Amino acid sequence: MKKKFFGANWKMNFSSHQAKNYFSTFNSLLQLNQFKNTDVVIFPPMQLLFFAQQLTHEQYCIGAQNFYPGQQGALTGEISSDMLSQDFIEYVIIGHSERRLLLKESDSLVAQKVQWAIANQLSVVFCCGEPLEIREQGKEKEFIKHQLMSALSDINPQFSHRIVVAYEPIWAIGTGKTALLQQIQEMHSFIQTELKSIGLNEQNIRIIYGGSVNAFNATEILSIPNVDGSLVGSASLKPMEFLSIISSLDK
Ligand code: PGA
Repeated sequence: MKKKFFGANWKMNFSSHQAKNYFSTFNSLLQLNQFKNTDVVIFPPMQLLFFAQQLTHEQYCIGAQNFYPGQQGALTGEISSDMLSQDFIEYVIIGHSERRLLLKESDSLVAQKVQWAIANQLSVVFCCGEPLEIREQGKEKEFIKHQLMSALSDINPQFSHRIVVAYEPIWAIGTGKTALLQQIQEMHSFIQTELKSIGLNEQNIRIIYGGSVNAFNATEILSIPNVDGSLVGSASLKPMEFLSIISSLDK
């Protein structure tokens, strides 16, 4: 059975003081809760990465929300894969819709990042998801297929285990609206088929759902058989709520 995966995407939130309080609460809650067969990764903003790394607990690790696919050099504001790996940061989020839309990351930059990350020993949480108008036109599968093909078709299947695919319909992110259970199940099964069609070992790739997952809807969403976990945004900012989301699957 695939190991489950939960990511806390903190986005642009928290000072070091707030992060310290978070870790202190989360770590003490973990004294009473053991995750079974589950990877848990917290993705703090860049300024907290290495600070957070000092405060982790053995049951989870720290990942990066972004990096630049290149070595060291003249790239103002960026951080490289080497800088992450030197500090034992393994997971990176790539292709999040906020970076694609607001920061204009193109499909080709996203593909370059995935290839670079895999070639440089990182594990990738690759995000895909359609905007509302595409869903309303009934073209969501075509759209997702294009995102998967452009980023993952050149990845050597032997690295499949280092990829997590997060399906995050854009209209469900931060809006309080979640996709219907049937829409999630259908898309996850479509993604699984597409991963197989490009030669990846889909049995080794976790496919997780993201978009307004919270303590109230988690049990329902995570009980869908082909949902292997979740990428959680706003609800992950509350340690108790994030733990309750993880616990709803990790029983
Ligand atoms: P949300 O964010 O849970 O706040 O909708 C999810 C994400 O963007 O990864």
